[in-house]
Amino acid sequence: ELKENTVIIVLGASGDLAKKKTFRNNFLPKDAKIVGYARTKMDRAEFLSRAKSSIKTPTKDIEAQLAKFCESLSYISGQYDQDDSFQTLTKHLEDLEKGQKETNRIFYMALPPSVFISVSEHLKRNCYPKSGIARIIVEKPFGKDLGSSRELQRALAPNWKEEEIFRIDHYLGKEMVKNLLILRFGNSFFGATWSRHHIDNVQITFKEPFGTEGRGGYFDEFGIIRDVMQNHLLQILTLITMERPISFSAEDIRDEKVRVLRAMPSIEPKNVIIGQYGKSLDGSKMSYKDDESVPRDSRCATFAAMVAYIKNERWDGVPFIMKAGKALNEQKTEVRIQFRDVTSGIFKDIPRNELVIRVQPNESVYIKMNSKLPGLSMQTVVTELDLTYRRRFSDLKIPEAYESLILDALKGDHSNFVRDDELDASWRIFSPLLHYLDDNKEIIPMEYPYGSRGPAVLDDFTASYGYAFSDAS
Ligand code: BG6
Repeated sequence: ELKENTVIIVLGASGDLAKKKTFRNNFLPKDAKIVGYARTKMDRAEFLSRAKSSIKTPTKDIEAQLAKFCESLSYISGQYDQDDSFQTLTKHLEDLEKGQKETNRIFYMALPPSVFISVSEHLKRNCYPKSGIARIIVEKPFGKDLGSSRELQRALAPNWKEEEIFRIDHYLGKEMVKNLLILRFGNSFFGATWSRHHIDNVQITFKEPFGTEGRGGYFDEFGIIRDVMQNHLLQILTLITMERPISFSAEDIRDEKVRVLRAMPSIEPKNVIIGQYGKSLDGSKMSYKDDESVPRDSRCATFAAMVAYIKNERWDGVPFIMKAGKALNEQKTEVRIQFRDVTSGIFKDIPRNELVIRVQPNESVYIKMNSKLPGLSMQTVVTELDLTYRRRFSDLKIPEAYESLILDALKGDHSNFVRDDELDASWRIFSPLLHYLDDNKEIIPMEYPYGSRGPAVLDDFTASYGYAFSDAS
């Protein structure tokens, strides 16, 4: 249920993330107020003009909404490590909350990791509401490995209870990712085939057609594995493989997620390839290392493909191939489930069935299915059972991931947020690999051209784990 009289305080409001994602649409409760807090000194007018310019394509009818939305905004500048500054913030909050019976404060941390702990402590000490709800929304990076993630948790824990913490993984707010549980558990024909007995391999792919333009500094410290695989892709993998939760309650769902993560051994370096993009073939796009914020000798992976396994009865032996890369030939996030071969005999080389769940762009779910080619012969042809959202749900608006998640946080629904033990379990799967890659200086990522499909060995890599390419794939 949505609380009335909520104030959302966006810490780090002058930063890029806040600009891009937080103020996008007018989806908040009518009486909600938003307070920006950051170090940059600016007045309310400037803050408003920044917020406005970041809202996508204002049209005539949202002009009015926008004006209304802007009324709810205010801005305070202050330091991240001084009680004085946070007391100024509290004073401002109290002014806004005058006359209210209870005060509900939601702190959204759009902050660099270096100031994260200090801000969370200062908030607790100076800005924690005396009555009503207190929530803190935090963004990755949640550390760089299991050890540093635990350190962060330890710093947060004495001040903020787990039920007050909302760790965002924005992939959990995407429409198609939320659909995974419904597809699996709401369709008996999927449920019946959902195991090693029928599924040969699963691929989860994340591709972006642009490099790290402008974010090289941040990216070089993390690399593609920490940036999108340990979180976004692993979340998708978890939702595909977890057992049926007892209910749709947040804790029932998260219990099952943790259980399957704990059945996943850590990823072995022998099941991993890494790449880094070079110049585009036509020379128009620069290489990763040409970015000024990136060290000349960087070994940072901008591409990785790796295989995870799950040691339980349902999944033992099935390779889960995760692939992610920047500066590739297209934008696409999808899950591709390849079923086992049908029994041979009457058919020669008939392609496998595949179920494809396209997360973005152009959300869709389709099944590659063999059919008789119409005509006099018994020749087969690969066809598709196709649910394309644009066609089927053309009059429905798909919410942005952040819209949906912030609304969940306002309602206090944790289903699509990462629990502390889940975070631990996910780092445990990746930490040994990350340390291995960081420590072994002789491991150099394979170069691939900007705008290509990735390192040349990629297709051999996926084939070696059983993925069968067919002409139609
Ligand atoms: C972020 C990563 O978490 O996700 C970015 O830090 C990446 O590197 C982004 O580009 C992708 O999100 P989306 O929603 O654009 O697919």
